[in-house]
Amino acid sequence: MEAIRLILLFVHLVGFALLLGGAIAQFLTGKFRINPAVLWGSIIQLVSGIGLAAPLRGGGDAEPDPIKLGVKLVIAVLIFIMVFIPRKREAVAKGHFIGIIAMTLANAAVAVFWR
Ligand code: HEM
Repeated sequence: MEAIRLILLFVHLVGFALLLGGAIAQFLTGKFRINPAVLWGSIIQLVSGIGLAAPLRGGGDAEPDPIKLGVKLVIAVLIFIMVFIPRKREAVAKGHFIGIIAMTLANAAVAVFWR
């Protein structure tokens, strides 16, 4: 169980790197397009996050707060929708793109500070 949890956490961190890194690198080009790193990062975060939310720590107090996981799930689904729908467009609005970056940072903050 612990090995599965660590593998999922590793994949989760790679997905985070793709999503945030891909979004910031794209933002800095000045063209607000949904690139493949952002799209795949958002998919990986949803799949690996749902896997990590399983009771892999032996249950009880060792498990993360279910409300925390619910908040993370809602934010991640919103990010996915904002990434998936306009994925083939040349560009999205600057505010839309900043929203994706801000919600990604918010979800990382929830992961780290909500104990
Ligand atoms: C954009 C989406 C997401 C981002 C940016 C994100 C970010 C992170 C980060 C940075 C960590 C590492 C925290 C640490 O090890 O201290 C983490 C851990 C974790 N994430 Fe996510 N996450 C996302 C989506 C999700 C989703 C959808 C779920 C499930 C509902 C989830 C569940 C978890 C769990 C269970 C852990 C490990 C245990 C914990 O720290 O509570 N994540 N996440």
